[in-house]
Amino acid sequence: MSPMSFESVKELFSLKGKKAIVTGAGGGIGSAIAFGFAEFGVDVALVDINAESIEVLREKLEKAFPVKVLAVPADVCDIKQVESAVSKVIDVFGRIDILVNCHGIGQWCPAEEMSEEDWDKMIAVNLKGVFLMCQAVGRHMIKQRYGKIINIASMSGSIVNRPQPQAHYNASKAGVIMLTKSLAAEWAKYNINVNSISPGYTLTPLVENLLKNNPKYAEYWKSLIPLGRFARPIDIVGAVLFLASDAASYITGHDLVVDGGYTIW
Ligand SMILES: NC(=O)c1ccc[n+]([C@@H]2O[C@H](COP(=O)([O-])OP(=O)(O)OC[C@H]3O[C@@H](n4cnc5c(N)ncnc54)[C@H](O)[C@@H]3O)[C@@H](O)[C@H]2O)c1
Repeated sequence: MSPMSFESVKELFSLKGKKAIVTGAGGGIGSAIAFGFAEFGVDVALVDINAESIEVLREKLEKAFPVKVLAVPADVCDIKQVESAVSKVIDVFGRIDILVNCHGIGQWCPAEEMSEEDWDKMIAVNLKGVFLMCQAVGRHMIKQRYGKIINIASMSGSIVNRPQPQAHYNASKAGVIMLTKSLAAEWAKYNINVNSISPGYTLTPLVENLLKNNPKYAEYWKSLIPLGRFARPIDIVGAVLFLASDAASYITGHDLVVDGGYTIW
């Protein structure tokens, strides 16, 4: 084979006809990702604990794009609900090519005041929920010898945000980054790529709710971002579509930071 011979580059970026699951699809970033997939011709299953939010999104996407859209309410911390959601998607779509874990919760609390319950809930949703979804979908991807898994971590998995105290959130996201690398190593032999994306501050209900009681933080945070603005959910979508495509076939175990430059200072 000549060193110049390659497949069509454009084809490598195509996602048409793929089947995806997006968790947290009722939220700010998850709904933007689901929209991006639908626009690129991907059949998409929306998973969220908030059933109403994904039903509304399902209707919108099906009206706007010629793809199949499923709304599958589930709590990702509950193994039974996860397994039944995944088997429902396989029943309808026949396969799952792409999994994006985009569910999550946030909370600020000084470590010395944190209750055991707050700690357990954060780790259950943000870390165990990602593992359970990867495991249930991974078993299926192993059989088909193909899969792209993208876990939405956070820049908080690599740096400590200021000034808000959120040890449990930061630890959960560091866990997602290391879980991603571990699964990438285990499942590379099955042709499954596992990567994470670490957004910086993104304007979504999660951040807006946290800012409600601390509006002055917004200007301070902005001053720490080289690009001088918060991310919009759509700023995260391009990175997801790239990692979900075969253009990213040789990338695995990577954490793609999408933070407007926050972590370079
Ligand atoms: N917004 C940011 O600044 C930011 C920055 C870095 C990382 N992230 C991460 O991006 C992801 C999406 O965040 P967002 O900003 O869109 O938040 P969001 O609050 O808008 O959306 C999160 C979604 O997750 C769902 N969810 C929560 N618990 C669940 C559970 N147990 N089972 C199923 N679904 C559940 C919620 O119902 C919600 O729809 C999260 O993992 C978050 O940690 C966000």
